[in-house]
Amino acid sequence: MIMSRRTTGLAIEAEGLRRSFGKTRALDGIDLRVPAGTVYGLLGPNGAGKTTAVRVLATLLRPDGGRARVFGHDVVEEADAVRSRVSLTGQYASVDEDLTGAENLVLLGRLLGLRKPAARERAERLLAAFGLTEASGRQVKKYSGGMRRRIDIAASILNTPDLLFLDEPTTGLDPRSRNQVWEIVRAVVSHGTTVLLTTQYLDEADQLAGRIAVVDHGKVIAEGTPGELKSSVGSGTVHLRLRDPAQRPEAEKLLGAALGVAVQPEADPVALTARVGGDGSDLVASEQAARALGDLARAGIVVDDFSLGQPSLDEVFLALTDHPAADERDDQMEAAR
Ligand SMILES: Nc1ncnc2c1ncn2[C@@H]1O[C@H](COP(=O)(O)OP(=O)(O)OP(=O)(O)O)[C@@H](O)[C@H]1O
Ligand SMILES: [Mg+2]
Repeated sequence: MIMSRRTTGLAIEAEGLRRSFGKTRALDGIDLRVPAGTVYGLLGPNGAGKTTAVRVLATLLRPDGGRARVFGHDVVEEADAVRSRVSLTGQYASVDEDLTGAENLVLLGRLLGLRKPAARERAERLLAAFGLTEASGRQVKKYSGGMRRRIDIAASILNTPDLLFLDEPTTGLDPRSRNQVWEIVRAVVSHGTTVLLTTQYLDEADQLAGRIAVVDHGKVIAEGTPGELKSSVGSGTVHLRLRDPAQRPEAEKLLGAALGVAVQPEADPVALTARVGGDGSDLVASEQAARALGDLARAGIVVDDFSLGQPSLDEVFLALTDHPAADERDDQMEAAR
């Protein structure tokens, strides 16, 4: 087995990728640069073009235009070279439902050229690593959704690919199974594999990805680290709780003046909420918040509780697209009618 790892440079380089299905422009000029050895998130709502992008990059679908290279190999001209370095859950690693988890992994190991004892050992290790030892003798069709997802990923990393495509690996999973899949992704990356992860979950991209491309209608509408995407929205949120509800009107005034933004009184009579960092000043949100707290203290207003939170990726998506991340499904259903 070739164990070469490329952990420097780019795993994926795509320029102006286009692909239409009839009148639908699934990919409308996508540019991507995915650093090797990282998790890269493709974040977008239903129908954004994530699966189409993955299929093109995994050589399963030819683009209509633009170009893409995987570890330097063109996905059209050098498709075989690309295929030897990538793995896609649920595609190449097709798990047979009638076989047990262990049988599947041993079989795939044998197909990859491992001798039987080596295939068994690899299967056992993977089953243990994925928490499937107990279920290893059970037919895969009797697995729960979370177990199924884990055996899929186990199968797809059997040959330790250089690039692993995970297309919505946690959609529909309960929080515990989701966390398990996240742990697996982290483990895979720590061994040098690059992961292209598509997701509709903003917190998932935030948790796992070093960089994120936000995809909408076949285009990348924003790209950066989770932190950069959040700060591009230019705000954090300050929450305050006061000791004395009678002081709230004054606190509201002082806070508004210090932050230069509107302050929202909450239903709770001692609570106030305000956005910070969106006024274009050089002060970062934490400095603005600290200054505001100083003003309150000087006015004799006692603050019992204070928190400064970053905006969620949901807020980022909303700010970037003018629609919430879940709207697309409705568009699609409209279009299908
Ligand atoms: N084989 C196909 N035939 C026709 N239209 C397609 C085909 N595959 C994708 N599309 C259309 O292309 C667009 C992008 O689809 P794609 O599956 O890439 O989106 P996605 O981001 O993966 O969405 P989801 O989150 O729902 O999986 C959609 O409008 C979809 O209906
Ligand atoms: Mg998809």
